Amino acid sequence: MRVYDESAALLARAKNSLAGGVSSEFRRYNHPHAIFYSHASGTKIVDVDGNEYLDFTLSQGPLILGHNHPHVTKRVEDYARNGQLYAGQHILEVELAEKLQQLIPSAELMRFCLDGSEAVQTAFRLARAKTGKKKFLRFEGHYHGWLDNVAWGISAPSIEALGSRELPEVFPWSAGLPETVQEEFITIPWNNLALLRSTVEKYHADIAAIITEPIMCNSGCILPVPGFLQGMRELCTQYNITLIFDEVITGFRTALGGAQSLYQITPDLSIFAKAMASGYPISAIVGRKDWMNLMVESKVIHAGTMNSSNSCVAAALGTIEALEADPNTHTRIYQLGKKLMEGLVQINHTYQQNMLVQGLGPMLHIGFTHLKEVNNFRDVLTYDKVKLGKFIAGMHNEGIRIIGRGLWYISAVHTEAEIDQALEVADKVMAQL
Ligand SMILES: Cc1ncc(COP(=O)(O)O)c(C=O)c1O
Repeated sequence: MRVYDESAALLARAKNSLAGGVSSEFRRYNHPHAIFYSHASGTKIVDVDGNEYLDFTLSQGPLILGHNHPHVTKRVEDYARNGQLYAGQHILEVELAEKLQQLIPSAELMRFCLDGSEAVQTAFRLARAKTGKKKFLRFEGHYHGWLDNVAWGISAPSIEALGSRELPEVFPWSAGLPETVQEEFITIPWNNLALLRSTVEKYHADIAAIITEPIMCNSGCILPVPGFLQGMRELCTQYNITLIFDEVITGFRTALGGAQSLYQITPDLSIFAKAMASGYPISAIVGRKDWMNLMVESKVIHAGTMNSSNSCVAAALGTIEALEADPNTHTRIYQLGKKLMEGLVQINHTYQQNMLVQGLGPMLHIGFTHLKEVNNFRDVLTYDKVKLGKFIAGMHNEGIRIIGRGLWYISAVHTEAEIDQALEVADKVMAQL
């Protein structure tokens, strides 16, 4: 039986200085409480009680090369010796930008920021300036960061509470959000092109941008239905609306060029963060010249003291170099993910526990529901959270670390034997559910 005594003691101490004992809301939700870790390498992470875990959280996605990848660490160490931050330009950020231009279809020009949340807001500013319109259209259950105008519509007390699909009720995620920001957005369910079309036809004169996760990773792991993203692209072009792909999760994870290269749909602007830099704080807002030229002309202002610091840029280049070093990296990640998904389906078949497994492979989701397929946020609300909590806790107690809402990430350094190990544990835990 694993014990978490040291973590519990540190959490109690931390609560006297850190609000809630943590530095991000999501870190509260661990089993049996927020856990303190001491070190990590490759696919393994160890907590302060000495418990080792096979890690499928990958720090909420960034660690596509696992923890502490030697090439990334060396790149950072070497370059940080030159200094940390110049309040000026340096060669490596140009090399990184040129690399992203090569890889990402929509990346004609770009700017670097610190994280996904900031880059999303930069995209909205560009879209409003380009179109002269005010609102953005977003989708229920999509997460675009924690800032005021996007901290809505990512949770709901029930499906019924959401009301009509045409005019859904949106619930705030936090106290303290200004009511007025609700005037900035329209929210509808995802994966329904007819609904998207009728909404755009009605409100296009106000809509500056449509923002979407190209794969809905933050509520389930839901693929776009065929034609949905294409239809969205066409509507945006037709009605002078900026199409924004939020590739914070899908970028570098689904393919080096992101989901836009996978689905061959080129957005006007997109955001890359997490897996771009192995856990270092850097993001990119990339886009077509027609939009990004507004920054070239200093009409749209973007700034940030810490932007493109030496170590973060070196980490991003190091990550991309390591991913490119073996042309089979992504194929392997997909194969491992598919093996895991198939194994979980098989285990569910044995125990008949209503576990639904969905995803692409590099990321996948499990939940317990009577539905055979989950297509949008309203379907996601059918998941049995209590049962999932028991499963996740069971896995955690056996040394398998998964994100609490049922999301698994696969890295380039996971092995087949580790997938087998995770499946063996899943079998044991399912048998006890
Ligand atoms: C799709 C998506 N967009 C934006 C964000 C916000 O990024 P960050 O946490 O780096 O601010 C996240 C974070 O999880 C995300 O998943």
